[in-house]
Amino acid sequence: FPCDVIRNFSIIAHIDHGKSTLADRLLELTGTISKKSTGTNQQVLDKLKVERERGITVKAQTASMLHTANGKAHLLNLIDTPGHVDFAWEVSRSLAACQGALLLVDATQGVQAQSISVFHVAKERGLTIIPVLNKIDLPASQPERIAAQLQSTFGIDPSDVLQISAKTGKGVEHVLHAIIERIPPPHGNADEPLKAFLFDSLYDRYRGVISLVRIQDGVLRKGDKIASCHTRKKYEVTEVGVMYPEEVPTASLQPGQVGYIACNMKESSEAHIGDTLHRLGVPVDPMPGFQPAKAMVYAGVFPVDSNDFIKLEESIKRLTLTDRSVTVQRESSSALGQGCRLGFLGTLHMDVFRQRLEDEYDASIIVTAPTVPYKVVYKDRTVLVSNPTEFPDVSDTASKVKEVQEPVVKASIIVPEEYLGEMMDLCFSHRAEDLDHRYLDAGAASASSASTSSASTSTASTPSNPPNSSTAPIPTTHTTADATVDASPPATANATPAPTSSAPRAILTCTIPLSEIVTDFFDQLKSRSSGYASFDYEDGGYKTSDLAKMVFLLNSKPVDALALIVHRSAQQHVGRTWVKKLHKVIPRQLFEVPIQAAVGKKIIARETLSAMRADVTAGLYGGHYERKMKHLENQKASKRRMKRVGSVELPQEAFFDVLSTG
Ligand code: GTP
Repeated sequence: FPCDVIRNFSIIAHIDHGKSTLADRLLELTGTISKKSTGTNQQVLDKLKVERERGITVKAQTASMLHTANGKAHLLNLIDTPGHVDFAWEVSRSLAACQGALLLVDATQGVQAQSISVFHVAKERGLTIIPVLNKIDLPASQPERIAAQLQSTFGIDPSDVLQISAKTGKGVEHVLHAIIERIPPPHGNADEPLKAFLFDSLYDRYRGVISLVRIQDGVLRKGDKIASCHTRKKYEVTEVGVMYPEEVPTASLQPGQVGYIACNMKESSEAHIGDTLHRLGVPVDPMPGFQPAKAMVYAGVFPVDSNDFIKLEESIKRLTLTDRSVTVQRESSSALGQGCRLGFLGTLHMDVFRQRLEDEYDASIIVTAPTVPYKVVYKDRTVLVSNPTEFPDVSDTASKVKEVQEPVVKASIIVPEEYLGEMMDLCFSHRAEDLDHRYLDAGAASASSASTSSASTSTASTPSNPPNSSTAPIPTTHTTADATVDASPPATANATPAPTSSAPRAILTCTIPLSEIVTDFFDQLKSRSSGYASFDYEDGGYKTSDLAKMVFLLNSKPVDALALIVHRSAQQHVGRTWVKKLHKVIPRQLFEVPIQAAVGKKIIARETLSAMRADVTAGLYGGHYERKMKHLENQKASKRRMKRVGSVELPQEAFFDVLSTG
């Protein structure tokens, strides 16, 4: 395929606006997959089990299609992007391999927080943007109004806007046409030295690491000897091919083409995202790469049975082969023994990983409360602390801490006007500062200044590499919050409340500590806006803050795995709430157990768990054998999730779920 018949594109959108459904239609329309294989709601590119279960795309997938237009066969490479901005890193690396993007907007919901952020990432990369309004089959859709919104928000000409239903297939052929007509072909020269941009990797049990690459210049064939600009390691290519949509080997990969290569890479760390591969002995200047994904949320993971640590560590290692953005470090806790401290891009990312760990490897685990990375500033150095157990007692002058800083984010929330007051209250109660708002529909001037400010902040925070490192803005809608917190089935478009799209909408911006939004913020955002708010954020750097370590004691013994870092203004409230929750979730033991919260040497809350008898069948009438067995089984099942800490048995909820049970 010569470059001029190749088109590399992505679909970018707010969560649930229909990316995966449109991808399926495009694959069908080009005959890449048959209608039967997609069935009614099955999304071919959503490969991982958790993706199917939750209806969100987690890992970007790539697929090639053939389409004939103007008598010429075209090779269209679709690079699917994840829907949740916890995965923004994947979005930006997908876009790095493209020349164009379909900006998909739900015609019933209009522009949402993430539509704005992905638009700017694509724009900054210089991509051609094709605006597409989806779900026009729904009676609540208002394509003209939303097209006007695209004009006022992004300066998009309404006559460029396509209107489709990805569900019924209406208008989708115009999308194919626009991809070919509007998106420029990639540049590249087959006669130049090989330059292949590595933008993703997969792990295959048999072949090891499979790298996804876009060929900039040169031709890559099986048997070629190549080297990495980043690691300088050498490899022999054992297979090249395209994703069609599964891997299909080909004779070569030509300039502009997107495909996979297998070259006996053993460790996934060898496939460095953003790396440039070149022919051995023919070095080239590397293409601009990526900054590594930045972990924003950390949690400890421990096996329930300490003997299972090796198995757990292996499981984690295997999972990180397919999810490179998780950071792993060994951790040891006096309460929970040996474990791993994992770093995630956001809370949904953490939740998805936890589910995959439990599902795919059948591992029984304890996950501790999420923490964000704090900076502890001493006179001569600054230490990044992402584990509460390592947080110093700031009130103790011997600790010599000058100050503590916490990560903050610049948040934007889009809501119908009537919920603006509620949202402001919500932000204030989460220590927000610099609150500001503008109306999104109230004319081009105010709306575009709102969106411009969002773009410029992202650039300002990371001037060297703005699109990749505008660290994980994490928006959510009501549906995301569901998925994040209680893993309920994905809301379908039809189940989504009809939008109040005729009401003017406002965009509220503020600076808010990251720690405030990793707990129950999404839930509250959802319930206090009746599900209408959409939320997005980007890195806002660090701010000095008055923080303290809170320790919980069971039977007068501190449980290190339960430690938290809290803002002093909230310590009383947090201490009391946690102690109450622990009291609720810890089953009564054979003896009385005092549960206390302490900051420094001061106890700030206490509850007492009274003693009970252990025999769960004791209270049962008669001795009905089956009933008795069932109770014992239940007790056994819940035991599996229990961890003995000192003399007290703690359930998983005591460590993690307490945070989100409200
Ligand atoms: P993420 O991968 O999580 O970002 O979601 P997505 O953007 O890929 O959305 P997805 O394709 O999963 O669609 C979300 C919901 O909208 C699903 O229930 C789809 O069936 C539904 N949907 C998508 N397109 C249309 C459409 O044109 N009309 C209607 N009525 N529903 C649609």
